[in-house]
Amino acid sequence: MKGLVLSGGKGTRLRPLTYTGAKQLVPVANKPVLFYALEDLVEAGVTEIGIVISPETGDQVQHEVGDGSQFGARITYIPQAQPLGIAHGIKIAQEFLGGDPFILFLGDNFIRGGIVAQVDAFRKEAMDAQIILYEMQDPSSMGVAVMNGDGRVQKVVEKPKQFISPYAVIGIYMFGPAVFDAVNNIKPSARGELEITDTIQYLVDKGLNVRAHNLTDAWVDTGRIGDMLEANRLVLEVMQAQNHGTLENSVLEGRVILEEGARVINSKIRGPAIIGKRTLVQDAFVGPYTSIHHDCTVRNCEIEHSIVLENSHLEDLHTRVADSLIGRNVHIQRADGHAQTIRFMLGDYSNVGI
Ligand code: G1P
Repeated sequence: MKGLVLSGGKGTRLRPLTYTGAKQLVPVANKPVLFYALEDLVEAGVTEIGIVISPETGDQVQHEVGDGSQFGARITYIPQAQPLGIAHGIKIAQEFLGGDPFILFLGDNFIRGGIVAQVDAFRKEAMDAQIILYEMQDPSSMGVAVMNGDGRVQKVVEKPKQFISPYAVIGIYMFGPAVFDAVNNIKPSARGELEITDTIQYLVDKGLNVRAHNLTDAWVDTGRIGDMLEANRLVLEVMQAQNHGTLENSVLEGRVILEEGARVINSKIRGPAIIGKRTLVQDAFVGPYTSIHHDCTVRNCEIEHSIVLENSHLEDLHTRVADSLIGRNVHIQRADGHAQTIRFMLGDYSNVGI
């Protein structure tokens, strides 16, 4: 079995972060969300992996993932000139995939607990496709599946306007070679994309064996800030405490991970939290569900339930930062002058709550 990971797209919902970086490289507990997908595939025994990349962020993805040896995988990069849909990603990967069955994994989808059970089920039974369902109150922003009684998929609809079922189709799919006939025959949708849902429906309409697996652990489509924070919570919740850093006159409560070279001085960190390599936390409080990436400074301020990307500095804020996603190379400091004055230099689509 091969793996196909989609890591293109524009990431419009995570602007301004995604003006300069791929959404799949935004870290969850200090590790790019894309890495979890690659690890899940390798854990399921899939090491021959194609990654579909875009002209905008392909270089960064290649730089971070490399040849895949850090994951025990072999990576082939497949450039997609335009974001023409998930099924288009399959189409352009046809040569790489050959006639093998494969797992399609959307690089911004995060699933806790891996995919071993689902892959085993797919391997055991002769299915043409397997989708994974996640029960939601309101799945209207996803593909949604309707099942018939015998475990087969009856209907799949992209972002249905009317409620048809509570089962969202998550971004991890398994296909046999019949899928190529589907992606080569479906037509672009109203949003101009070759939809994965139309692909699945095509297989269903041909009477092929399309089944579903219900997910019991958590799943997050990390398109928005709230989703990133949720994925971050899910990972931090199950991480073990580790201390590879140094501590001076400070207290660590609960599960805290200090990466190599992290320094904590005159501070309190209440886990679950992770402090990245060479990051300095001084005269500060870091609260639960916070991930501070490498080479950052958190001095004279409080932060909780937030993600801070690399090389960013929060200093002398005398206030608590919460529920925030702070990009790379950001400086937040107290402005000189009047105590009530706040000074900004924010990128387009920045979002500030005061
Ligand atoms: C895409 C698929 C949708 C699926 C979702 C999972 O949606 O089209 O069927 O449920 O991924 O993340 P999009 O992110 O393009 O809105």
